[in-house]
Amino acid sequence: MQEEAILITGANGEIGHGLIHHLAKQNQAVIALDLQPLDEVLQPLVLHWQTGDILDFPLLEKLFEKYRFSVVFHLASILSTKAEHNPELAHRVNVEGTLNLLRLSSAQSSRNHHSVRFIYPSSIAVYGLPTLAVKQAAGKVREDQFTQPTTMYGINKLYCEHLGRYYSKHYKQLADSANPDDLLDFRSLRFPGLISSDTVPTGGTSDYGPEMLHAAAKGAPYNCFVRPDARLPFMVMPDAVKSLVMLAAAPRENLSQTVYNVTSFSPNAQELKDITLQTFPEAEIHFVPDHDRQGIVDSWPADIDDTAARQDWYWQPDYDFERAFKDYLSPAIRRRYC
Ligand code: SER
Repeated sequence: MQEEAILITGANGEIGHGLIHHLAKQNQAVIALDLQPLDEVLQPLVLHWQTGDILDFPLLEKLFEKYRFSVVFHLASILSTKAEHNPELAHRVNVEGTLNLLRLSSAQSSRNHHSVRFIYPSSIAVYGLPTLAVKQAAGKVREDQFTQPTTMYGINKLYCEHLGRYYSKHYKQLADSANPDDLLDFRSLRFPGLISSDTVPTGGTSDYGPEMLHAAAKGAPYNCFVRPDARLPFMVMPDAVKSLVMLAAAPRENLSQTVYNVTSFSPNAQELKDITLQTFPEAEIHFVPDHDRQGIVDSWPADIDDTAARQDWYWQPDYDFERAFKDYLSPAIRRRYC
């Protein structure tokens, strides 16, 4: 008899930390997979942790033989800046790794006649606005607009959204079986830049937000790699975790689409600096734009429209810009470094 559990890939990453803490409070049995041994703080919170690569199909097969996964949170990926330095590796990890997990989740759904819920964090990187003027005029971008990404990461995420939709709605559409419970249940969120008080992301292009804040808390000078007027949507980690678990719990019949924007606030880099200085007035933050990374930020929307998530599964963030800093980031980061 297989033990029922929730699988989290990329468990050591930023979102993994927040999600494991959240699921542990609900006494959920979590299997954590990551390239590196699971962070010691997280080890007591999971049923089992496994060091391994999502490209190692036999290893994944063993996990799917041993456990019956009610939900898979597939968080492992190579982010946008790192992916531009090795696009082919990013493609392997981001696309082939996702395909491995979709295949095994799909096979398990069909074997048990019970859909595995496959929760896939996608990104604002799937958008590609052609010019800064178009970005400024576009306002809140809907899920179906401007999906012409310029980065390997964005292209990988957009394609995997489609792969997930295929596996959950059209997989082997010419075969006889028509039982929807035999197919996996794929659901995706497009996240904005994420900011956590506990961890700093690695290899992303929205990283100037969290990097600026963590450097200020540590008393380290920070050179921000985008212009003061660069604007992106952001969200704090408790809201990111909330959106993942809300989407995973939503009744299937409420979902009118497979991919949903979620967001909270959209500051420019100057506004991020100003609010950081309110908590850490001594912080030394300079703007030293990097032409190429700025180009990526300019191609991502200034804001995204999350009306569909609000309507279909009652998504609402707990933290606006002021509250995110006043009630979550500033106190938690002070406790961490000061
Ligand atoms: N935070 C990601 C990145 O910067 C975007 O989703 O790559």
